[in-house]
Formats: sequence, structure tokens, C-alpha cells
Amino acid sequence: MPADGYGSMKQIICRDLSTWTQTALRIVVRQAHQAIAERGRFRLALSGGKTPIPLFRRLADRGSLASIDWSCCDIFWTDERCVPPTDEASNYGAAWSECLSLLPIPPASIHRIAGEQTPFLAATRYEQDLREHLSETTPLDLVLLGVGRDGHTASLFPGSASLEEDARWAVPVCAPVDPSPRVTLTLPILNAARRILFLVRGRDKREILRRLSTDRSLPASRIEPRPGELIWLLDREASP
Ligand code: 6PG
Repeated sequence: MPADGYGSMKQIICRDLSTWTQTALRIVVRQAHQAIAERGRFRLALSGGKTPIPLFRRLADRGSLASIDWSCCDIFWTDERCVPPTDEASNYGAAWSECLSLLPIPPASIHRIAGEQTPFLAATRYEQDLREHLSETTPLDLVLLGVGRDGHTASLFPGSASLEEDARWAVPVCAPVDPSPRVTLTLPILNAARRILFLVRGRDKREILRRLSTDRSLPASRIEPRPGELIWLLDREASP
């Protein structure tokens, strides 16, 4: 991972899934406590894909549930596939069934991307929702991100025009993988976050992590929070 240019960057490598999940949980809980203590709200953006599922499950555990004041949390997504929320490909659907449905979060604080809409309409409505709750001075407190084997993150894919978007915070995209129609956050809102946590597990991510350390054109290389902090949380399998 490129180390220069960030507000600050940290890499943590965990020996097994349990340690990886516990470390991820600790980072989320600590950020929630800090945000709520300092600003009264914790604004969290969840990533999609399979990697974060063990963390979602831990967040719904009794211990974690009790340790975060979920009534002070706003939940967003980094991206969504344009499928119904009940579709197994839905990022919202996965987070809801594994975690959010078990937490005392007010429904109005769950800012779902309307995947059942067309990408353009879903992105437009999400942009409005984001701008009602976030601003230049009120960024996301914590963003969870994954990385694909092609170096994509959120639904920012290599060579996509969405990588150059510098005004809108959410845009419709056509992903080169199914489901293709999606909505994704853009670099301006992602890189404004106070902290970004890349969650990476598995041997199949080792090669792309190697490439990220030199290829600055890849979408995941473009994640450079300033003045925020960037943390890469890897398991041993994924570590180059
Ligand atoms: C998505 C995700 C995407 C994901 C990576 C890694 O909607 O697909 O937001 O960016 O994080 O593709 O996916 P896995 O965790 O399943 O490997």
C-alpha cells in the first residue's frame, strides 16, 4: 500500500479470523465512542462484499451492542448494487440480515441506497440524503472499504469515469461484473472521512495488495484520506 500522501497510514496484519474480527470491532467501537463523545453522532459507511460479514455479526453481539449508543449512529453505504433489498446481492440486505436488524438503530438513521430504483434515480436520491446529513465540516467518521482482485473499491472500478468525479458524492456506474448497475460513493466524500478502514482477507487478495504498492492508478490506491487516517487490516493469508 502506498504510504506517502495520507493524513496517516497504518497496516495491521492479524494471524487468524478471530483476531482480525476482534481488531476490526475494536476500531469501530473506539471510533464510535470518540465521535459520539465529541460530536454527538457517529457517521459510519459500510462496505459491501463478503469480507466484512464476520465484523457485521460481531457488531450485533450483546457485548458490542451494549458498548455503542446506536441511537446516535447514522449508517450509510459505500456502494450498492441496483437490485431489490431482498436480493442476495444487496449490500444493504447483507448488512441488515447479519447486523442492523439486531441493533436498536432508528429506521431514519439507516440511509439505504434504493437499489430497487434505476442507478440514476438511486444515486440522485442518495446524494440528497448524504447532503442532508454530511457536509464539508461534517464528514463520515469511519468508512469501511474492501478491495477487489482488480483493485476496485466501493464500486469504483479501474478506468471508470467515476474515479474523476469531483463534485457529486454518489454516482451511478456500470460495473464490469454482475450485478452491473450500481451506485457508488466518489473519491471526494471518501477521502474526506476522518478514518478509512480497508478490510482485506484471503490469499486471493495477496496479488492485488502487491500491485497496490506500486500502481497508483488503481482505484484502491486513490483512497488517500487527508487529514484523515487510513488503516489496512489484513489477515496473514492476504498479506503480501
Ligand atoms: C461491492 C463492494 C466491493 C467489495 C470488494 C471486495 O459492492 O462489491 O463494495 O467494493 O468490497 O469487491 O469484495 P469481497 O469482500 O467479497 O472480496
